[in-house]
Amino acid sequence: MKNIILLGAPGAGKGTQAALIAKQYAVPHISTGDILRRNIKDGTPLGLKAKQFIDAGALVPDDVVIGLVELRLKEEDCKNGYILDGFPRTIPQAEALDRVANIHLAINIDVPFDVIVGRLGGRRVCVCGETYHVSTLNGETKCKKCGKELFIRDDDKPETVRNRLKVYEEQTQPLIDYYKAQGKLATIPATGSIDEIFAEVKKVLDD
Ligand code: AP5
Repeated sequence: MKNIILLGAPGAGKGTQAALIAKQYAVPHISTGDILRRNIKDGTPLGLKAKQFIDAGALVPDDVVIGLVELRLKEEDCKNGYILDGFPRTIPQAEALDRVANIHLAINIDVPFDVIVGRLGGRRVCVCGETYHVSTLNGETKCKKCGKELFIRDDDKPETVRNRLKVYEEQTQPLIDYYKAQGKLATIPATGSIDEIFAEVKKVLDD
């Protein structure tokens, strides 16, 4: 397995696909969003700093996330590849990553904004990290994995989602051209089911 980035708008399904890739190829799934939310939950200084940005649907400053990803990539479990979900998100983050890592492929999970709004509007998450969509829960309100009560992420409120999509267009979308110029981009149209999209992801990874 190689060093892979998952690109895509908020709610495109990066986290869902990254978890499947991590399981299939036995590599760590590194989500900056998950790391930041864990720090918020634990009340760390990093969490306290990040919360105001996340709650507003804005990006956490580059130096903060670059520092935490650089540290994470030095860990032993990253030696044989990893999947980055939600990082990089700006050109300076991509440039910083290029200085410390050899990225082999950037997979762009491509979903129209109207589909995304439906996905985020129905997302339910668990403290254990599992993610669901209400349409698949049949009224169940507890996590199928650990039994804890599911909840709606604070930044999935409609007004915050609108801002996250705007921030994505302005700051993250340029990364598509950045990786295309490096010959490392694979775009997957991702309006199908989770399994259909994962089959396409596997084709790209096994190629
Ligand atoms: P982060 O947690 O990275 O959020 P995001 O990029 O906005 O992405 P999401 O987690 O919302 O969506 P996703 O694409 O993973 O979709 P998911 O698989 O859950 O970041 C949160 C915040 O942290 C940012 O706003 C920022 O403030 C900060 N941050 C993080 N990284 C940063 C960085 N590098 N720099 C600066 N700030 C940073 O799927 C969504 C829903 O759709 C789920 O309900 C799922 O079940 C469902 N679903 C998935 N696939 C399908 C499908 N094929 N069909 C139907 N439903 C589907």
